[in-house]
Amino acid sequence: MTTHPTSARPSDAPDRSADAAQRGADADWWRQAAVYQIYPRSFADGRGDGMGDFRGIISRVPYLRQLGIDAVWLSPFYPSALADGGYDVDDYRDVDPRIGTLEEFDELVAELHGVGIKVIVDIVPNHSSDRHEWFREALESPRGSNARRRYIFRDGRGENGQLPPADWESVFGGPAWTQVPDGQWYLHSFAKEQPDFNWEHPEVREDFLRTLRFWSDRGVDGFRIDVAHGLSKDLAEDLPSKAELEEIPKDGNHPLWDRDEVHEIYAEWRKVFDEYDPPRIGVAEAWVETAQRRAKYASPKGLGQAFSFDLLEADFEAEDFRRIVSDNLAQSAETGSSSTWVLSNHDVVRHATRYGLPPRDGRPGKQGVEWIMAGGPEDEIDRELGLRRARAATLFELALPGSAYLYQGEELGLHEVVDILDDQRQDPAFWRSAPGDRGKDGLGRDGCRVPLPWTRDGSSFGFGEDGSHLPQPDWFAEYSVEGEEGLEGSTLEMYRAALARRRELQTDETLTWDEELCRGEVLGFERPGGWLNVTNFGDSPVAVPEGDVLVTSAELESGPDGQRMLPGAATVWLRRPQR
Ligand code: NOJ
Repeated sequence: MTTHPTSARPSDAPDRSADAAQRGADADWWRQAAVYQIYPRSFADGRGDGMGDFRGIISRVPYLRQLGIDAVWLSPFYPSALADGGYDVDDYRDVDPRIGTLEEFDELVAELHGVGIKVIVDIVPNHSSDRHEWFREALESPRGSNARRRYIFRDGRGENGQLPPADWESVFGGPAWTQVPDGQWYLHSFAKEQPDFNWEHPEVREDFLRTLRFWSDRGVDGFRIDVAHGLSKDLAEDLPSKAELEEIPKDGNHPLWDRDEVHEIYAEWRKVFDEYDPPRIGVAEAWVETAQRRAKYASPKGLGQAFSFDLLEADFEAEDFRRIVSDNLAQSAETGSSSTWVLSNHDVVRHATRYGLPPRDGRPGKQGVEWIMAGGPEDEIDRELGLRRARAATLFELALPGSAYLYQGEELGLHEVVDILDDQRQDPAFWRSAPGDRGKDGLGRDGCRVPLPWTRDGSSFGFGEDGSHLPQPDWFAEYSVEGEEGLEGSTLEMYRAALARRRELQTDETLTWDEELCRGEVLGFERPGGWLNVTNFGDSPVAVPEGDVLVTSAELESGPDGQRMLPGAATVWLRRPQR
């Protein structure tokens, strides 16, 4: 396995900014970073209008610093009508006035850098919003014009072109083609307010290079690339039907997804990244079929890193977790990238809730996501068990070599908010799926995007002065930062302790499975330097091996002979006595 040294830092280092400066010079900072995703509209509201903003984030930099993360990833903050929570971008080189200004962005970057936290911004290149100046120009321009060619316009089928060019469905449900007043149709893989760009158009390519430089010049350290697998398309005159499309393997030659030539785009982006010192980084959101195909996005000649959603999609099961970890580590050793781990983000049911869903088809937890999304009764969720497992899975994740991508609120053990009234929902995935057909994405993603609780009470639990743009439930009080801060055993304190230890312990990107510990529902692995992780995926307590306890996700128990026992659904980190 490849080894990549990282600097080991003591958790109680008094001056983190000196330490940060050292890290700034390290081009490999991202390889094992703990990256915290901020969904700006729901993090903290500094202006008191119910919507999170840069002032709010700036006011919480001390919190982020204390949490012990290495970087933040900011979900889109660009001007937007919020047809898709900001993933419908009007202008890639500006800030939504409700979120702040460019000057405040600079201030935020300076504040974060000042405490040693890197900044990753979200780039949305597959589609713009329908309010983007280029799309407006396209609508005002004739068929076949240059302005229309920047997007994907086609004539319709049928005698008068009254039928869409194909019967495709958008990712959010509903048709993927929408007709404009002069009768032509444009493609939108997501909501109709998100027209897809034509990446064969040189101006589109040029413009994104400009955007990458714009933010890099303002000091950002990297980019998260939205729908990275969607940019290149092959739309011949005769479009396949939806049924035909579904039959085409996604192995490089599918008309819409994961085409091989998309990597030519990222090779160009890499050149821009490498114009900077240290080079800017990229992490791809690429929903592809195999680990091999994902590796192409993570190539050092391309974006450099790609999210693995394998753990996020897995049940809380020892066998699955082990297989996923081994596969991912083998894959990254081959590509030269580092592994990535994700348990929650702004698109999925929070992992504390996922792991507490009732078993389906005899399988535990997570597979019930479809059930909850379809509105399964909330009182059947075992929130306590879900959170126990979530904490155990998080410690497991943070002990792994590679980057951990954390989502705001998971450090509080927040659950999905399930009971949002229909008329308060914002997500197009909800609005575009027909009632009665609320399958996989039925309830949409608002439940993991509810503004964070900072205090036990007060207006919007301390989120801001004037309410919150999505309703917060009463139980948020208990999960607030104020409620958990300084409280022994709270999820927040567990994250803080684990992130601090991780900084101290993280060395090279290897692990060794401890075969003696890996029995049944238990997984044990060791990192160099004697850092041992033991996770009990089962229900019955297991004996804890020798060593100093560093962090635990649940209190250890005492066995019949007085030996230390790790209860079910729990993880412990130990420092092995050096032999
Ligand atoms: C993936 C993003 O994570 C999601 O939130 C968004 O809706 C789609 N891409 C479309 O941009």
